Amino acid sequence: MKELFLTQKFESTAVNTFKLSDRPPIFVAGEGPWLFTEKKERYLDLVCGSATTNLGHNHPSQQAAIKEAIKSGILHTGTRLMSSFRAELYSGLSNFLGSEDISIHLANSGSEAIETAIKLSRFLGNKEHIIAFEGGYHGRTLGALSATHSEKIRLPFIGKMGDFVSFSKYPRKETEIDTCLERCEELFKQQLKKKISVAAILIEPIQGVAGVWGPFPTFLEGLRKLAEKYDCLLIVDEIWSGIGRSGKKFSFQYSNITPDLIVIGKGLSASLPLSAVIAKGDLLKRWTAGAHTSTFQGNPVACAAASATLKEIEEAKLIEHVNEIIVPCFEKFSSELRNIKNVLEVRFVGAQCAIAFENSYTANRIQHEAMEKSKILTYGGGLRGECVMIIPPINISKKILSTALTQLLELISEMSNHN
Ligand SMILES: Cc1ncc(COP(=O)(O)O)c(C=O)c1O
Repeated sequence: MKELFLTQKFESTAVNTFKLSDRPPIFVAGEGPWLFTEKKERYLDLVCGSATTNLGHNHPSQQAAIKEAIKSGILHTGTRLMSSFRAELYSGLSNFLGSEDISIHLANSGSEAIETAIKLSRFLGNKEHIIAFEGGYHGRTLGALSATHSEKIRLPFIGKMGDFVSFSKYPRKETEIDTCLERCEELFKQQLKKKISVAAILIEPIQGVAGVWGPFPTFLEGLRKLAEKYDCLLIVDEIWSGIGRSGKKFSFQYSNITPDLIVIGKGLSASLPLSAVIAKGDLLKRWTAGAHTSTFQGNPVACAAASATLKEIEEAKLIEHVNEIIVPCFEKFSSELRNIKNVLEVRFVGAQCAIAFENSYTANRIQHEAMEKSKILTYGGGLRGECVMIIPPINISKKILSTALTQLLELISEMSNHN
């Protein structure tokens, strides 16, 4: 197979293509939640390009917007020139958030948007330190990687360079919230003692890749107070859980706070590379022109896809769909899974569900079997890679999702009996 040969020969090994299989399926088409191989084999995509293709594949309104943008003939302008597609997205984001009192910086990937948020927070107060959280994932470029907790991912590249970030404890249950807030305040005090000022607290209101932890509304509210007390920014990383995936427009909306910076990516365009930082008020207008640019930011075609996505989420009432259709499916699924020996815990919020097993070996085996036997694609996550995660498009039908969950339940149960 030519594709397999070429990918194996040339692709960087840092990419995860062959994690589950030496001969993974090669997809040539997509429609809704389905992906198709050349041989017309059909797979159910419960990965969504790592929580990105929230409208599924080949969505008509997204396709129409992309085609329209391409038809304009302008595939790239760069930010030194104005573009109607960018302007329209600014308006779309403001409507989606329900606030005009914001400023916006577009970028290309989640990591790049995190870099933007970190740089802005350090620039504004002339401060340096960032407080991030155990289990948090913020990306792989050096700044974002510094705030990504996993030592396996971070240490080979960052080493001592990463010491502008310290990691505070993230609650794993409600009863840990007070202790976690105390620990966080301790970190502020430690930095102050060293005469180092804290620029920002950076947090995922729901930890996604770590296996769906949260939301913990009072924790976020406590962090908001600490940010006020120590005069730093509160940055919420909504790259994974934002734009409807959590069952709210943004996962911080489970609590009663206003963040200083909201970082989004993935589901924003739900297709083409695009991310953004949305700041409260004029925060993003306080740095100097040219302080942070990149060539492709605000690409017109990606902006058109994002505007169409935001519109579709509102018009098709997809947040309601998540809460009324997807969540009940996960409720049923999780109560059935709890009787299975191998399953340690099931956590879900909105359109994301993590099934925790003893170790990553078991989780990988289940993912592999689901792909090979049931033609269902799932995501691997968890603090130690011990979770099989189900990340459906947020518009998936009840019938398709519940049939797939029944198949997964049977598979997990069967594999548990053979252990
Ligand atoms: C919460 C969170 N932040 C940041 C990132 C990094 O985004 P990207 O992979 O687009 O750079 C991810 C990616 O999974 C994420 O889940």
